This record gives sequence, C-alpha cells and structure tokens, in this order.
Amino acid sequence: MKLDDQTDPCSNPSSNETFGDLLRTRLSRRQVLVGGLATAGFSLLGPIARERSARAESPLLGFTGIPVSTGDTLAVPKGYVAHVLYAWGDPVSSGPAFKPDASNSTEDQMLQAGMHHDGIHFFPLPGGSGSTHGLLAVNHEYTDDGLLHVGGMQPWTADKVRKSQAAHGVSVIEVRFDGNAWAVVRPSAYARRITAATPMAVTGPAAGHAWLRTAADPGGRSVLGTVNNCANGATPWGTYLTCEENFNGYFVNGTQAVPPLQQRYGINARGFGYRWHEHDERFDAARHPNEPNRFGWVVEIDPFDTSRQPVKRTALGRIKHEGAVVTIAPDRRVVVYMGDDERFEYIYKFVSRDAYTHGDRAGNGALLDAGTLYVARFGADGTGEWRELTHGKNGLDAASGFAGQAEVCINTRGAADVVGATRMDRPEWIAVHPMTGEVYCTLTNNTSRGKDSGAPVDAANPRADNLFGHIVRWRERGADPTATRFEWDVFVLCGDPANTTEAKRGTIKGDIFGSPDGLWVDQRGVLWIQTDVSTSALNKGDYVPMGNNQMLAADPATREVRRFLTGPRGAEVTGITATPDRRTLFINIQHPGETASERSDPAAPKAVSAWPEGAAGGRPRSATVVIRRADGGLIGT
Ligand code: FEO
Ligand code: CA
Ligand code: CA
Repeated sequence: MKLDDQTDPCSNPSSNETFGDLLRTRLSRRQVLVGGLATAGFSLLGPIARERSARAESPLLGFTGIPVSTGDTLAVPKGYVAHVLYAWGDPVSSGPAFKPDASNSTEDQMLQAGMHHDGIHFFPLPGGSGSTHGLLAVNHEYTDDGLLHVGGMQPWTADKVRKSQAAHGVSVIEVRFDGNAWAVVRPSAYARRITAATPMAVTGPAAGHAWLRTAADPGGRSVLGTVNNCANGATPWGTYLTCEENFNGYFVNGTQAVPPLQQRYGINARGFGYRWHEHDERFDAARHPNEPNRFGWVVEIDPFDTSRQPVKRTALGRIKHEGAVVTIAPDRRVVVYMGDDERFEYIYKFVSRDAYTHGDRAGNGALLDAGTLYVARFGADGTGEWRELTHGKNGLDAASGFAGQAEVCINTRGAADVVGATRMDRPEWIAVHPMTGEVYCTLTNNTSRGKDSGAPVDAANPRADNLFGHIVRWRERGADPTATRFEWDVFVLCGDPANTTEAKRGTIKGDIFGSPDGLWVDQRGVLWIQTDVSTSALNKGDYVPMGNNQMLAADPATREVRRFLTGPRGAEVTGITATPDRRTLFINIQHPGETASERSDPAAPKAVSAWPEGAAGGRPRSATVVIRRADGGLIGT
C-alpha cells in the first residue's frame, strides 16, 4: 500500500504516448546529449559518440557467447571452467559439515553458510599476493524454510525460527588459490557468520532517536541482526557494505491501524510468510512498532576483524536498499549510490562531509556517518538533478512531518516523496565505470507502469507494462560524482526482437535477456549484467525464449551484449566480484529449484533442480561459484 499516490511532477503527463514516439524522443535527445557534451568539452564523450560508428564486434568482449539454457546446469563459454566453492550449509571454518537432509541443528547453521547467496566481494589479504589469497564477504538474502528444516515449516517451532535467523545475514570466509583451484581455508581466524541475531551498533543522524528505541534497547543504538541482505558495496578502506532490502517481509502488524510509517515501507498483516513473529515477538510490529525502523539500513562490516561489531549507518537513509556502490570524488569525498527496489521507488546518493584519507583506516571509519543524502529526478530533456534530502530544505520541515534529520533518515521514502523525485521501475544494482565515471543502474521491471493514473510512463521509465526492464546510465556534471546535476540516457531496453508486441522487443544489440538485476563494471570496462526473472514471470510465454537466468557482458561503447553464463533451473544469478588480477571471477547462484510457491515442498525438494550436486545429492543449494579461464588468462578477453 503506497502513500505517495500523487502524480510525480516530472513524470510524462501523457501516459498514452506510444512506444515508437518515446523511442524517437530518446533518439533525438541522445543526439542532443552528444552535441551538448562535445560543446562542453567533456572528456567522457567517448562511449556515446563511438557507438554511432560501431559496426564490428566489440573489442572488449573476447569470448564466444553461449546459447540460452533450460537445463539444470551452470554453463560458461568454451575455454572457461566453473566450480562450486561455498554452498549453503558448508562450514565457514572447521565447523560442522552440511547434512543433505537438512538435519543440521540451529547451532550448526550458525557456523555454516546461510541460504540464498547474493552480493559478494573479494578482499585481498594484507601480506598476500593480492589475487591468490583473500576474504570473501557473502550476503545470504533470505531463506526457503521448506528446504531449510526437516519437515519444512511443519511443525513451526521457536528453534526453526532461530535456525532461519541463523541462515540469514553475511558470511566472511577465507579463500586461497593453490595454483590449480580455489578452496575455502579451514580453519580460519577471519571466518565469521553475521546473522539476524548478531548485535550491531547504530550510528549517524538517527542513532538514539525516539523512533529507534524499543523496550529491549531504550537507547536506540543497538540492534540485533541484519536481514534480507541483498546487494552490497565495498569501501576503499577495506570494509564491506551489506544492504537490507525487503525487511518489511519479516514483520507482521495484524491491527486495523498500521501506522503510516509502517505502511510506507509495506508492513501489513501478512508479511512474507517467514512467521518469525510467532516465536520472536520483536517481529510483531503491532507490539513493537519501532522495531521495523531498525531495519532497512546499509550495514558496514570490517571483514578483517571478527571482534568489531557491524554498524548500521543511518546517514545513508532507510529504504529497501538493493546495493551501496562507493566511488571517490576528485576532492576525496566519498559518494555512495543506492537503489530502492520496489515499483515506483527512487535512486539515491550520499556524499560524505569529510574526505577520504588513503591509509587512515581508523579515521575513514566515520565517513559514512556525516554527509548529504540526495534523490534523483530525471528530466525529460536528458538532464537530471540530485535533490537534497536535508532537514530545512526542499520542504522537509516539521509541517511535512520531519522534525529533524533523524526523521529524514528514518522516513527516507517519505522525504523523497516531498522533494519530487522520479519514481522508477524498481532500481536494483548500480555500477560505476572505473575509467569514464559513468553510472549504470538496472531497473529490473515494473508491470504496473502506466496502468494507473499515479504511474504514467516518463522519459526514464518509457514503457508501460515494463515486463523486461531496462538499464539507465548517467554522467555527473564535470565528471564529479558530488555534482547535483547530471546527463542521462537509456543504455538498453531489454527484450526480445522476436516478440510480437513492439514494446517488448527492446533495443538489445546481441543476446536477449530481461529483468536485469546484478550489475558491475570490471577493471577493463566490461559491464556485467545478471538477471533475476522471477519464477512466476518465467512461466509466462514472453520469457520462454530467454531460458534460465543468466549473466551477460556488455561493451559500454558499442552496447553489444553477449551471454557469458547460464544458471541452473529456478535460480537467480546474482553477486559478482573479481580478484585484482582479473583472472578469477566469483558469482553466486541463488535459490536453485525455486518454484512459484512461497516455500518449497520439503517432501519434493528436487522437483525443479538438484543443483549443484545433481541426482546423487540432497536439496538444491545456493552457492558461490568460481570462474576461471582454463589457461589462466584474463576473464572476458
Ligand atoms: Fe534482492 Fe532487489 O533484489
Ligand atoms: Ca537483486
Ligand atoms: Ca531482483
């Protein structure tokens, strides 16, 4: 239930404009953009200008693309090898082994990989050679309690709630390459599980605010756990950022009067079926109305020090955080780009008050506690504006419900509503091109777009019934990520040229895909795109030609897209990181075997997929996969 049902002031008021009209508008706008940038002498002109003369195959993409797949396997191009490194239930250190019948205890699960791997990042170990030894931080987004427990959710017990909470959060594991293969180092002094019950600190403008105080934490500065850890980020000072996405699904409020703040973030009487509130009453949002306010944050974790508590950084705002991508501005301030993944929600960025100091790890630790939060407004003319979310500006005052910056940080969505941000088609991952500074954002899909009066198409979200999604990109003015103005265009409209509906054909040059989600630009400038077509959408005819979820590589200059990986059945491909030498890629396969039902049938756990073990194994398992070239060469070349 959404409260911001006003028409966005920058939306295209004409919701019945045809797709052909919009495409022509975008094309002419792109030509204006190229001319405008050239006039301004932008050094970042290259990619868009070169695109027009690109005819040959991309020089960036040096692998042979692979076909779509409907098999229960993971496929990579000829000359590449892939193997499973770390699957649900594997011990983080020298702990208990995985039991294929899911009979591991709650205490076992606390020492094992959680479920549903998502964002991932490789941290080279100090003193190591940089690319053969390091730490992996891995998100465990959510659980399928049908697979997690013996008997699934029947009966539903307090101990199963604790096991479910233990299968959430983050893993930190130590990994090493022996010249032949990567393996998890066991035992490891770095190995750590962070779960939905791990104590963590709260810092920044909202720390200690009345809306964060609970009976168990009257100071409002100490929270148990992190949930729905979706995408991620990493800081230049060597910490991991894990992002709390659909936190609302863990809470239930069965009253007739759900508070407006809870409503704005989607809390209702049903939740997502985790049923934690039945045995852990802090997830009953009627009895503990402030507990949901303690989730929806970016959490900073020091992967190198198990004694340090994770920290919820409230200055970065409270949304359904997909990811938190960090870049450093020319003046050394830290900029963090973040998407709020829900239909018609927004794209944000945070600019730190203070500058990053190379090598000052302790001093850099507080950079994410003070700064300015902005939300994006995309203009129809190809320019855009970052609108400041600061108390006392842009109508954010007591009259609009914000007594101070703490309220802006806790009710960030409400603040973005007030300042007139652009309502997007589900912002997922954001990636910054390391050479050009261009920023890319996946808008995974939005089949509600254009279907009601409050949500017409607009220039940045140009398709009604947006089944396949798209990717936008922008360039900050002056190539400065702290700028408050930018130029933007649509990088690609996803789709299938063979689709009988014009608006679903898209603009892909190369291999077809839809529902882009994971996104990363590697050190060579290759844009990697991972897809998350939901199981229910997969079953619709338009998605059938695309097969299982996949990962593709794109050339930002030529826009050629080539398929690099296909996942097993029922899985999402998500999370991507590489070693600094670019010879090893780590990705995650999430929820293999997922069916359209809310929880898997524990009596038929392999109905869709038996990946990765195959028929001889037990239940399907999310897992981290290592990808290398058989000859040890650079990935993608
Ligand atoms: Fe957890 Fe928006 O993906
Ligand atoms: Ca995602
Ligand atoms: Ca998704």
